Amino acid sequence: MALLVIGRHEVVDKHYDEICQRAPRRDVRLWPETGDRNDIEHALAWHPEPGELAKLPNLRTIVSVGAGVDHLFKDPALPNLPVIRYVDPDLTGRMVEYVTLNVLLHTRRMLEHRDHQAAQNWVDLPAPAAHQVRVGIMGLGVLGSAAAVVLNALGYNVRGWTRCLRQAENVLCFAGKEQLGVFLAETDILVVLLPDTQDTHGMINRSLIQQLSLRGRHPRLPGPILINAGRGGVQVEADILAALDADELYAASLDVFETEPLPATSPLWNHPRVSITPHNAAVSMSENIAVYFLRHVERMENGEPAENVIDRSVGY
Ligand code: NDP
Ligand code: OXD
Repeated sequence: MALLVIGRHEVVDKHYDEICQRAPRRDVRLWPETGDRNDIEHALAWHPEPGELAKLPNLRTIVSVGAGVDHLFKDPALPNLPVIRYVDPDLTGRMVEYVTLNVLLHTRRMLEHRDHQAAQNWVDLPAPAAHQVRVGIMGLGVLGSAAAVVLNALGYNVRGWTRCLRQAENVLCFAGKEQLGVFLAETDILVVLLPDTQDTHGMINRSLIQQLSLRGRHPRLPGPILINAGRGGVQVEADILAALDADELYAASLDVFETEPLPATSPLWNHPRVSITPHNAAVSMSENIAVYFLRHVERMENGEPAENVIDRSVGY
């Protein structure tokens, strides 16, 4: 029995090294050096070359390096096997840090303070207190619900939007397309932690942005704010820019983009009210992904059920 680490990004080399170090007696292979493909039973994958997983006749499970699995569904020949996504406290903690940092950044108007500092201007900008701000989280899954706990602790008014109706302590919950408008109308800071699926692709568009904060807003918050750390495919960047320029959106923090790396020609780079990070809100650390993958393989060997298996019918 052999394991395969497969991906087109160099980062998988590190995951491979870490797995080999932790399990020196296991037969672990790094694509494209697959050896005899018949041996491979479990694969750890990150943006695999389309068609390659389908060449493994005895493959039993596919483990995604990331929490998001959209990179796997880009392969039209993806074998019909259990897909396990990555769920890990280190990753969750990093995402909570990113969301909290950016919610505070905009609440305290730090992008403008940074510009005033550059010009040596002593300007006191009015800012609301956390309890005067409504944060709406699209996607109250593992990451969104962990972020909600910390935002609640800071005093923010937190609401969440999901596909199926959820219950979470101190979170006003909404679900489905029917309740989206109500959710948006009372959201000042929109945090997007959605997977990129057939249903969510392109949904952060101009008309959705125009529905934010329709029902009142604290006067010290200059306008609605967008934070997207889910997937770039969920947003329409031309619409975000148009909404910023029309003052329908006040500011944005974007960690993910329609095309990554973000092309040098994108006007987002130089927009004064946009904060950009290179899809590193929550990275999968090699040491943790190695432990996760090896634990999964052990579970399979012990005949235990796989954890964190995605529902292929909904794509996440
Ligand atoms: P989960 O699967 O735990 O949660 C996904 C959430 O999205 C669920 O609450 C789900 O609703 C909701 N959702 C999915 N489809 C819809 C829909 N059509 N309408 C409404 N709600 C929907 O995922 P995680 O929280 O672990 O991760 C979320 C995403 O974050 C990942 O898919 C990935 O794309 C991204 N990510 C980004 C990282 C980064 O560094 N930028 C790092 C890690 C992840 P329901 O509860 O009803 O199922
Ligand atoms: C993930 C990511 O999905 O890093 O985990 O984007």
